[in-house]
Amino acid sequence: MMRRDYRALDEWAVARLAQTLARTAPATGLLFLEGGLGAGKTTFARAFLRALGVQGTVRSPTYTLIEPYDLSAAFAGRRVLHLDLYRLAAPEELDDLGLRDEFEQALILIEWPERGAGELPLPDLTLSLSPETGSALSAAQERWVRLTAHTPKGSQWMKGTQGF
Ligand SMILES: Nc1ncnc2c1ncn2[C@@H]1O[C@H](COP(=O)(O)OP(=O)(O)O)[C@@H](O)[C@H]1O
Ligand SMILES: [Mg+2]
Repeated sequence: MMRRDYRALDEWAVARLAQTLARTAPATGLLFLEGGLGAGKTTFARAFLRALGVQGTVRSPTYTLIEPYDLSAAFAGRRVLHLDLYRLAAPEELDDLGLRDEFEQALILIEWPERGAGELPLPDLTLSLSPETGSALSAAQERWVRLTAHTPKGSQWMKGTQGF
């Protein structure tokens, strides 16, 4: 398992990491975004999606649970899904989202993956955001970021961030 910690990243630095991971992302893959309320998961996802060519407002899928993006040919016609499972009542509800066939066809980012425990495949990468040790979270404070690869695909993906 490959792992890397980044200390004290401000919003701009996290956005740069997101851009780097977007650039090195495989055509299909699964990235879990972990961290409590307000940790910066959606902020990361926005920067990631923008770097892939998504234009216009990137809405947080708080109520819809899922936002699909079909990218233009200029971005290899890639399909990207952004999920937020915070409001999922039970992991079994994931079936209603019609995700089963998507895992082999899309690049998928999931906020609050723990709400889908047992019903989601192993992610290629997990990105965890937390406040600096011991302190409570406040919006402007820098974040601690841990990136972990769980599959060979994830390790490959992560290797692309070397030098960040
Ligand atoms: N790395 C960061 N450093 C400082 N503030 C951040 C960082 N990332 C996000 N924020 C701020 O934290 C707040 C919550 O971010 P958000 O992405 O909505 O969190 P989440 O999706 O995890 O609930 C926003 O006001 C955002 O500007
Ligand atoms: Mg969010």
